[in-house]
Amino acid sequence: MHIVHVVGARPNFMKVAPVFRAIQELSGIRQTLVHTGQHYDDNLSDVFFRQLDIPTPDVNLSVGSGTHAAQTALIMSSFEPVVNERKPDLVLVYGDVNSTVAASLVCAKLQVPIGHVEAGLRSFDRTMPEEINRLVTDQLADFLFTPSQDADCNLQREGIAKERIYFVGNVMIDSLVRLLPKAPQQRPAGMPDRYALVTLHRPANVDQPAGLKEILKSLGEINRDLAVVFPVHPRTRQRMQMFGLDPGKLMLLDPLPYLEFLALQRDAAVVITDSGGIQEETTYLGVPCLTLRKKTERPITVSVGTNVLVGDDPIRLHAEVSKIMEGNPKKGSIPALWDGHASGRIAEILAGKRGGAI
Ligand code: UD1
Repeated sequence: MHIVHVVGARPNFMKVAPVFRAIQELSGIRQTLVHTGQHYDDNLSDVFFRQLDIPTPDVNLSVGSGTHAAQTALIMSSFEPVVNERKPDLVLVYGDVNSTVAASLVCAKLQVPIGHVEAGLRSFDRTMPEEINRLVTDQLADFLFTPSQDADCNLQREGIAKERIYFVGNVMIDSLVRLLPKAPQQRPAGMPDRYALVTLHRPANVDQPAGLKEILKSLGEINRDLAVVFPVHPRTRQRMQMFGLDPGKLMLLDPLPYLEFLALQRDAAVVITDSGGIQEETTYLGVPCLTLRKKTERPITVSVGTNVLVGDDPIRLHAEVSKIMEGNPKKGSIPALWDGHASGRIAEILAGKRGGAI
């Protein structure tokens, strides 16, 4: 059996690492790693390969940035010959980025079976490009590996047969469980003792000058009582420059490597974010998370975990930060099967050693 993994952007790397490793432990399965090159900067890509011990990609499509259509189309036209040449028995795709949907479309037309890791998540908000990627990928996939049972329900509602759905747990948490002991214990120089950690990159939050200005203003107000530490995504940095917005006294950093970012999450008083994966990591770590979105495709982080959706309301954000500062954060617990063994379950299913469709 020959499996091709396709990854492209930062949030894919902590998901492929444990799956690749778990499959490697089962003899007889050949693996090929394809990096589409959707993310290409060292601090969004290479450093993650090093820290997560992901092998050097066998193929790099080097597609780079572009509009959604241009990027998706370029990934498709560059990936098609790879599939024709390498003839995989299965292609594994991860999460919800453009590389995920592009590779799935290629495989579906070439009749190569697809496994989708992190299937079934839905925000029910089609203005998010990732929601379109999730919907299309799940319709095309043959094996749908879900992180939580709400995802199983979403898939069944969309008419996907139970036999294709496997509730395996959260592979991103596999990486966290393995690498948390290696995260630095020492605070970096100049880092305050108590701080709010911020990440921001969704088009809905950063692409409009008025909206981004409003968010920076409320972070500035929070910063008066609680230091704001903000590793800035390249998209957000570009927009801040383009709109001439001044981040004031916020502590801006470049995007951080996996282990350093994990340490900052572990030690934060609160995390303020619009990311998907960070809602999950904070839930596992038991750190309060305030999500700057009206909807989440990861509702279990709200119903079970430490996540609170604050939408785009600065007053609500401030009120929730105050609650945390007063010692009343939302308490949470760890969702089922977020136990560090999700990838092992995927590997066993693919090797035919485990059934387990829902
Ligand atoms: C992508 C994913 C998103 C994910 C995020 C994590 C899609 C649709 N979006 O969004 O789901 O949460 O990654 O980071 O797939 N850039 C660089 N260096 C890089 C990569 C990008 O400077 O290595 C710049 C590009 O020029 C571009 C901007 O960052 O203008 C955004 O990159 P892009 O790949 O379009 O999407 P993300 O916003 O990163």
